[in-house]
Amino acid sequence: MADTRQQHKLPLPLILLLTVVFIVCFGYIYLYSRLTTTGSIILYEKPSLRMETYSFKVVDTGLVKRESVSRSNLISTRNKNGTEAKSAELFPEMDLYLRMTSGKLYYYYSALLTRSMKYFWSGSMSMVVVLDDEKAEDHRLGEKISMEYPFPRIAFMEAIDPEIYHGSGHQRIQRDFFYPEKIVSRPYVGFVDTDTVFVTRITRNLLFEDDKPVVIGIYGEALHEWWANYSKVTASIFKSPEPFQCMSHFPVIIKVEHIIELRNYFEQIYGMPFDEFFKIFTKSNIAQFHLICKYIWDFHRNEYKFYLQLRTSDKFGRWTVDRNGGGRHDVQFYRQVLTPKQTVPKPRAAIHYPYRNYFYLNTTLQGVLYSGICYTGGFDICPEKCLKLKPDGLHVDLFLFEWSDWTWDNRCITEQTEHYKQIKAQFNSELIHIIRKGCEEIDHIDFKPIFVKPG
Ligand SMILES: *[C@@H]1O[C@H](CO)[C@@H](O)[C@H](O)[C@H]1NC(C)=O
Ligand SMILES: *[C@@H]1O[C@H](CO)[C@@H](O)[C@H](O)[C@H]1NC(C)=O
Ligand SMILES: *[C@@H]1O[C@H](CO)[C@@H](O)[C@H](O)[C@H]1NC(C)=O
Repeated sequence: MADTRQQHKLPLPLILLLTVVFIVCFGYIYLYSRLTTTGSIILYEKPSLRMETYSFKVVDTGLVKRESVSRSNLISTRNKNGTEAKSAELFPEMDLYLRMTSGKLYYYYSALLTRSMKYFWSGSMSMVVVLDDEKAEDHRLGEKISMEYPFPRIAFMEAIDPEIYHGSGHQRIQRDFFYPEKIVSRPYVGFVDTDTVFVTRITRNLLFEDDKPVVIGIYGEALHEWWANYSKVTASIFKSPEPFQCMSHFPVIIKVEHIIELRNYFEQIYGMPFDEFFKIFTKSNIAQFHLICKYIWDFHRNEYKFYLQLRTSDKFGRWTVDRNGGGRHDVQFYRQVLTPKQTVPKPRAAIHYPYRNYFYLNTTLQGVLYSGICYTGGFDICPEKCLKLKPDGLHVDLFLFEWSDWTWDNRCITEQTEHYKQIKAQFNSELIHIIRKGCEEIDHIDFKPIFVKPG
């Protein structure tokens, strides 16, 4: 008996050590939470992320043959086999839209976005990369990427008078989002970023249900004041609360017509041209997707499939109402308005890589891609790479976006199982080939983890 008690007692030096570790950790967390409030603006300046420090190498997976496209048809030609490819398209009604500029973003484009597309999109997709027309480097970049998988069309946006926005390049890009009809020809536009990483095999059902685009919004507790401020701006522009944040999945798919309508709506309620409105309201930061999603929720709710994730810091999924940040509805509204189906966790197609949930910081790009490969059907095909994962475990990247984690909801696993059941039904030799390739290649990807703190 005495022996057993002895074993449970911690020696004094260990207690002291634990105390020191405890103090250091909490000191760090405290300081960190102080720092991130002031440093938060960095979030929107993605291009200046610590990019210089990474060495990187594009690994040509050889999955897709490169084609040369002559200079003369660069702008209009997506792919020489365009018509053939069309029949295999999962989303014939949508153009993916990527706003980019020359410079270092190509690093993300090739290392994250298009690499993950190689593993998880099948057939072809229609994608437009939008660049600045006035920059010679952008024209060179356009030429280069039009010849690489996924052979996007290149569109050049004319330079606009800097008087129209408040001088930051980011606002020019935001304004461009309101004019998708200049860029895309199909009824729907699917916005992605260069640092988007697709995490699972893309099925039709992930992005469209009953031919309506899936929108995954986030409501509940504001992450912190900086985000709450965006909600307040949206609410003040519309003069009614913002329902949710919706730059919370990729691609963000919107009917082009609805964005045109939104411009007209602002012109009507504010009695001024859209550009004038844009200039006035971008004095404070606006989030274009918050405005667009508020509009479709208010005016076209039945034309989209909304799934709303509750952001909560509570492990039982309870929402502490006092932290909703001010620009949103209160908890009662969501209880009354949301149908049970709208709260079911919907698997996401992609993550926003540098902002991946801080709690899973230790996962590398390789880890993210392997998870997708393994759950897509690789547990038998790729056993040694899938060793660390459990086939019946949660594929967390389906339910994470930036710092919002949906895995507290135990319905995630059911939805995940359903998603992979659909993939299994499409299993074919092409998919097996992609999984095999992934097993061989992913280890060799030279990409240092990058993470942006929730600030
Ligand atoms: C284009 O089509 C030709 C012939 O139909 C085929 O051999 C080639 O692999 C295709 N290329 C791509 C990139 O799909
Ligand atoms: C949020 O908005 C308030 C009022 O405009 C401002 O004082 C505060 O600094 C903003 N907070 C952040 C983190 O931007
Ligand atoms: C690493 O990530 C896993 C989840 O993927 C988590 O359970 C674990 O605690 C993390 N480990 C460290 C040391 O952060």
